[in-house]
Amino acid sequence: MSAQDQEDVYFSTNPPPRHLEAHAAQARAFIDAHAAAGRRVVLVTSGGTTVPLEKQTVRFIDNFSAGTRGATSAEYFLEAGYAVIFLHREFSLTPYARHFSHATTGGFLDFLEVGQGGGVSARPDVSAKMTEILSRYHTARTENLLLSIPFVTIGDYLHELRAISRLMASLGPRGLLYLAAAVSDFFVPPERMAEHKIQSTDLGRRAQEAAAAAAGQDLSTDNSEEEFDNFDSSPRVPRSKRLIIDLDPVPKLLLNLVDGWAPRGMVSSFKLETDPTILVTKARYSLERYQHHLVIGNLLATRKWEVVFVSPGREDNWLRVKRKGKEWTEEDVKRLRQGEVPKEEPGEEIERFIIPAVKDLHDQHIKANE
Ligand code: PMT
Repeated sequence: MSAQDQEDVYFSTNPPPRHLEAHAAQARAFIDAHAAAGRRVVLVTSGGTTVPLEKQTVRFIDNFSAGTRGATSAEYFLEAGYAVIFLHREFSLTPYARHFSHATTGGFLDFLEVGQGGGVSARPDVSAKMTEILSRYHTARTENLLLSIPFVTIGDYLHELRAISRLMASLGPRGLLYLAAAVSDFFVPPERMAEHKIQSTDLGRRAQEAAAAAAGQDLSTDNSEEEFDNFDSSPRVPRSKRLIIDLDPVPKLLLNLVDGWAPRGMVSSFKLETDPTILVTKARYSLERYQHHLVIGNLLATRKWEVVFVSPGREDNWLRVKRKGKEWTEEDVKRLRQGEVPKEEPGEEIERFIIPAVKDLHDQHIKANE
């Protein structure tokens, strides 16, 4: 099946999110305003996509991403003069709020106190930091530089990504797509998805069968399913009591994005691996397969310490943060690259280096394509 056919099948069989049209209208107005002002626009995708198991969703598959990369990057893009469309997983980290909403030292309310006059104010020890971050946030809001659009499921994400990327096309090479979301590779297609909560007991299943029988449908299961099967070498429960999930691959729509949705923009994706020995090879492979402009490789364990830029016709470019109070030795770097995490926290945010390096490549992209 061609990439276009795959796209058509996916989008015609997976329903769009409820607010897609409203989000697209917001994105259109945002892009038009910044294009008219000659400002660059970046679409930052952030956080994990869910894979629902039921149409009326009680359970879903999720992944680890909290959206740190995307939310942090969005702040540095704003600092670098970009207007930012922040397409993010609902309730994941967001720019500016992230400093207080998910701090390891406490929740948001822990940063506040009730003053003597009864009003609420920031705790004195965090007041300076909060004032500084709040003022950056207010600037972004009042100057209309940050548009936040949420998604939840993989289907929502792909519909929103396509709609916004197509709008970004009007920016030509000045549009930048920075795809940091952790995108599910597998999903349950609608025709195989249960309508209601999947039942875990016979009682629940029998109740569903009785309701279906009353409605003239037959849901009863084959008795042979009660047998212990050979699904694994030592089954401890019969197959009928297990939840066996059958997932289809999510089509790789990056190709469609690069070729069709935003063909003149700069497209930068992330490649996540856990095995250090395959990271660079997989990043190069991704670049060749999708023919885009930049793959930023990162390892799950060390993603806050080091990333590698892989781009066509250039040497691999490793970016690494400084250490608190000590220098990197060759041996340290070797261990880091093998996925060994230093004991202390990083001395700074790696996005401080990633964003200027991306911007530099974007400058070159604009020069070559405008
Ligand atoms: O949020 P944090 O905790 O800070 O973590 C940040 C991060 C590790 C999630 C981020 O830095 C990162 O690596 N994001 C990409 C994760 C991912 O989806 O990697 P992948 O190797 O599975 O996919 C690579 C690329 O293919 C992605 O840009 C994705 O948009 C694209 N893809 C993936 C699946 C799919 N079905 N179609 C795609 O086009």
